[in-house]
Amino acid sequence: MTVLVTGGAGYIGSVTVEMMKGRNIPVVVLDNLVYGHRQAVDAAIPFYQGDVGDRELVKEIIAEHNVTACIHFAAYAYVGESVTDPAKYFANNTVQTNELLNTLIGAEVKNIVFSSTCATYGDPQQIPISETHPQKPVNPYGWSKFMTERILETYDTAYGLKFVALRYFNAAGATEKCGEHHDPETHLIPIILNTANGEQPFVPVFGDDYATPDGTCIRDYIHVADLADAHLRALDYLADGGESTHINLGNGQGFSVYEVIEAARKVTGRSIDVRVDARRAGDPDRLIADAAKAADVLGWTPTNSGIEMIIRSAWEWKQAHPNGYAE
Ligand code: UFG
Repeated sequence: MTVLVTGGAGYIGSVTVEMMKGRNIPVVVLDNLVYGHRQAVDAAIPFYQGDVGDRELVKEIIAEHNVTACIHFAAYAYVGESVTDPAKYFANNTVQTNELLNTLIGAEVKNIVFSSTCATYGDPQQIPISETHPQKPVNPYGWSKFMTERILETYDTAYGLKFVALRYFNAAGATEKCGEHHDPETHLIPIILNTANGEQPFVPVFGDDYATPDGTCIRDYIHVADLADAHLRALDYLADGGESTHINLGNGQGFSVYEVIEAARKVTGRSIDVRVDARRAGDPDRLIADAAKAADVLGWTPTNSGIEMIIRSAWEWKQAHPNGYAE
């Protein structure tokens, strides 16, 4: 009984694989390493480099390792790039995922935990955002995940596939071994820490005229280890015969860009300069999860999720790995 983890060399995937290893859950990783890092996966874990849409490879992995469930992380996740190159996002996130699901069903692997996103909601009509909030994505990345959620639902009806679609808010933080290393880096907390470390002169703040108390955007930051734990709870839920469902993963608490920067100044003890820049297209002023369903259905509540704790974990990882996963 082994769990196939696609995208297991990525940011959230690698932390989940690390946690599975710690809990002695048999795991095999498939990652094409386009954005993932081979060094993020323990050398003792079976690892295959390839695409999730490669049916022959996936069939071989399932047979070789007796795969009985899948956590599907593998995806591209740059919102801005998805706007300029939507074809890349639909080909990878939707079409390749569809192939993966076909292969899994063909092999009778029918329990799937899927990495979805709060980007499937689009501009919020009310805060906090619950799972029943209308879904109207505002970028191709969000649509690529939205479509996969619809595929999963129809596959449940037609083929008996069971899934938990986890809609993440803003993943952040690190464990001792695994952290955030994107190239290019676009996320707020790593950019703040690069600035604290003197690698860049200031944090560009994308707009200070939003309808929030300090004018900067508010997001719900959630520690990556809490996210990983939710995936393992979702696997257990499906193994116990749970029905297919969609679940938000967030803290239910929002912090503005300025609040995150202030928290980082405290944690790092460094000065962090900012420069107010133009708004970034497609940024809603506030995204905060209603996380009640995760507690009800999965018994999940975040445990690492004070903003300072999140930043401290990322800062410690950064200091221990000054070049991230690079040699
Ligand atoms: N921001 C800055 N300066 C920066 C980087 C970010 O001001 O240099 C701001 C953004 O405008 C935003 C906030 O910081 O208001 C957080 O930005 P991130 O890029 O860190 O995260 P996003 O909220 O844009 O994106 C995250 C995930 C996406 C997911 C999205 C859902 O990274 O994959 O949440 O809305 F789609």
